[in-house]
Amino acid sequence: DQIRKVDRFLYAMRLSDDQLVDISARFRAGMEKGLSSESNATAAVKMLPTHVLSTPDGSEKGEFLALDLGGSKFKVLQVKVSENGKRRVEMESETYPIPEELLNGRGTEMFDHVAESLKDFLQKKHINQKRKALGFTFSFPCGQSKIDEGVLLSWSKNYKARGVLGTNVVQSLRQAIDRVGGTNVDVLALVNDTVGTMMTCGYDDQRCEVGVIIGTGTNACYMEELRHIDLVEGDEGRMCINTEWGAFGDDGALDDFITHFDREIDAASTNPGKQLFEKMVSGMYMGELVRLILLKMAKKGLLFDGRVSNALRTKGKFQTKHITLIEQYKDGLKNTREILTELGLSPSADDCLAVQHVSTIVSFRSANLCAAALAAILTRIRENRKLKSLRITVGVDGTVYRTHPQYPKRLHKVVRRLVPECHVRFVLSESGSSKGAAMVTAVAQRLAAQRR
Ligand code: BG6
Ligand code: GLC
Repeated sequence: DQIRKVDRFLYAMRLSDDQLVDISARFRAGMEKGLSSESNATAAVKMLPTHVLSTPDGSEKGEFLALDLGGSKFKVLQVKVSENGKRRVEMESETYPIPEELLNGRGTEMFDHVAESLKDFLQKKHINQKRKALGFTFSFPCGQSKIDEGVLLSWSKNYKARGVLGTNVVQSLRQAIDRVGGTNVDVLALVNDTVGTMMTCGYDDQRCEVGVIIGTGTNACYMEELRHIDLVEGDEGRMCINTEWGAFGDDGALDDFITHFDREIDAASTNPGKQLFEKMVSGMYMGELVRLILLKMAKKGLLFDGRVSNALRTKGKFQTKHITLIEQYKDGLKNTREILTELGLSPSADDCLAVQHVSTIVSFRSANLCAAALAAILTRIRENRKLKSLRITVGVDGTVYRTHPQYPKRLHKVVRRLVPECHVRFVLSESGSSKGAAMVTAVAQRLAAQRR
């Protein structure tokens, strides 16, 4: 009965397979619009060329540095890829907190902080003698005309540093490294985190040709045929495309699926009207969605005897990590009670059941939406290759996928139902995106040496 009440209240968030097939078709159309030079300028789904032409083949070797900026943690890493054939990778990493004010401050200060952290890392690990190649994972939409360039097209998630939009972030990083001084590095490659993830998983699995992030933000990349990429010359072979699927819907394509809760989230965000798909899916927003729903239900007398607490009225008090706790198999209900009590509410047993169900509907919708978009990518790859059935691996990362107890299972199941002709293997990128960034850097270094 509690469950039915919630189901009725949130009917618009419970998507049927028919609706998912429809969403998948719309995303497919969005991808095509982004790839074509005639429509790219107005496309919501940007389909950015990455200048990554192949997944790892095992010939990559050397010692690299990596920066990983834009996810929930900023990291500096050293990645050692051992000599041919052995496929051994050693990694050392350090997480550096980024003060909140740097995200909203001047871009130069943000890059100075990045460069200082790099310097600190090199000193701590005593790495400083030989000049090192560096790969930069930067998890935002960038226009790239080559691998060591990235013009920031827009900020997303909780970043909005000033003076960076429209500029080349590789150059800004190089300048900051020079300003800070004392580090001997070459920034050779810029990669999106989806690309780093695909390449990380691709090092162990040749079939990995898709990378997906479901974390603070959400996005995917995949290997597309060069002949279909209008913005890049050449017809032979493939290139990885960063879809920037978080912006799906920014042109109205999802209007009939967007609820008033989604509108509220969007209106209160730093980028209204932008990243609408991301706001329905990713970790930065899912907890807040649940909070808005609970608040509305309480105000309507459907929960907590119609009582509302100050915490429940406060933006950010309910987070996606709470959803993860509420949906734990064994302790879910106990956790729910604790979390609600912590929010100053006095939930009944029925309230706890209802809140658990709200969380499930929100997180399930997220998995459903990702599955629909991913199904479109997989179908496109299969058709590109004129195959009846496609065997492929998808590399995945992000806190939501990594920590939510039921999310991966649900995502896998829906994808397999939507595209039965694709045999999909999902792999979690255990080591993050930097191993993959190092692989891209290795190739860039080899090509740079050949040009010299
Ligand atoms: C990390 C990757 O593991 O996951 C990052 O190394 C990526 O590159 C991040 O951005 C995404 O997840 P989240 O939850 O930290 O945004
Ligand atoms: C945001 C960024 C995108 C990134 C994703 C996951 O959507 O725009 O570039 O890949 O978050 O971190």
